[in-house]
Amino acid sequence: MKDQLILGIETSCDETAVAIIKNGREIAANVVASQIDSHKRFGGVVPEIASRHHVEQMTIVMEEALNRADVTMADIDAIAVTEGPGLVGALLIGVNAAKALAFANQKPLVPVHHIAGHIYANRLVTEFTFPLLALVVSGGHTELVYMKEHGHFEVIGETRDDAAGEAYDKVARTLNMPYPGGPHIDRLAHEGTPAIDLPRAWLEEGSYDFSFSGLKSAVINTVHNAEQRGETIAPEDLAASFQASVVEVLVTKAKRAVEQYGVKQLLVAGGVAANKGLREALELTFSDQSDVELVIPPLALCTDNAAMIAAAGSVMFEKGIRADLTLNANPGLDIEIFN
Ligand code: KG4
Ligand code: ZN
Repeated sequence: MKDQLILGIETSCDETAVAIIKNGREIAANVVASQIDSHKRFGGVVPEIASRHHVEQMTIVMEEALNRADVTMADIDAIAVTEGPGLVGALLIGVNAAKALAFANQKPLVPVHHIAGHIYANRLVTEFTFPLLALVVSGGHTELVYMKEHGHFEVIGETRDDAAGEAYDKVARTLNMPYPGGPHIDRLAHEGTPAIDLPRAWLEEGSYDFSFSGLKSAVINTVHNAEQRGETIAPEDLAASFQASVVEVLVTKAKRAVEQYGVKQLLVAGGVAANKGLREALELTFSDQSDVELVIPPLALCTDNAAMIAAAGSVMFEKGIRADLTLNANPGLDIEIFN
């Protein structure tokens, strides 16, 4: 049988990415042009700058992906693109590039949910065994997603305020660290001890929802109160204490959900899945549970990329999901809409 080749495009935030995936699981090319340096001096992503970069980079990244995979557009079966969620202006560049490519080459167009992409990054590592649960922890999302089969997503818990990555970035800013703050806090946390008492938001009994804004405010207040007293708090201890709170809540809720739903795999997805403290705590928690397989993608597949969009796109393509040339960016796209 002929190999299935999906070209994926991702532009939802600050990475311009194009990838080509063979048979849903094999990376033929995975090109990511990061804009982090352009946003750093503003302390966060500036939407207008992101869009302009995507326009400038898109055709270069696309050609590079085709070259690296050593294929032409004639070999491609379908074009998968992030429809949402994300920054509307940024998403639009990817959606329009995908539409132009699909129209010019007469290829099917497959819309992909960004979080479905993060989840499917795991399928580039290991084949899925259902039912499974995905812990999604990114800059924009913190969710527990239950999957009974391919392409079917049920959100059983989500953040009520800040996403985990967002909390990391805001705490990093309070400690005068550059954007994105997650990796810096992670590094610093390993040099300190979690000696500062910070809250854990468990929410009501049995809830799989999350909340990180109280924790973020507690960190900011701790810093300000110390400043007013003319004291200094060791930033490494603050980072370690903050990380301990985030990790404890994520791991405890994920473990409880794994048990209640009786899943065979726990997938970890999104930029915060790159966090060393979280990876270590999950590995420790699930090391003695032989009936549940813990899957965490390598760092490069945790943060935004197009390999994950093409991997999810492959499944959506087989499910018969298609978009026509009226496809628009949808910054508030619901993941359950494709079920
Ligand atoms: O998934 P992602 O690349 O973009 C979104 O879809 O949001 O996630 C980016 C987020 C940022 O908030 C960044 O600070 C965080 O992931 N991040 C980390 C680490 N590496 C990236 N957070 C904690 N520890 C890390 N090592
Ligand atoms: Zn993402």
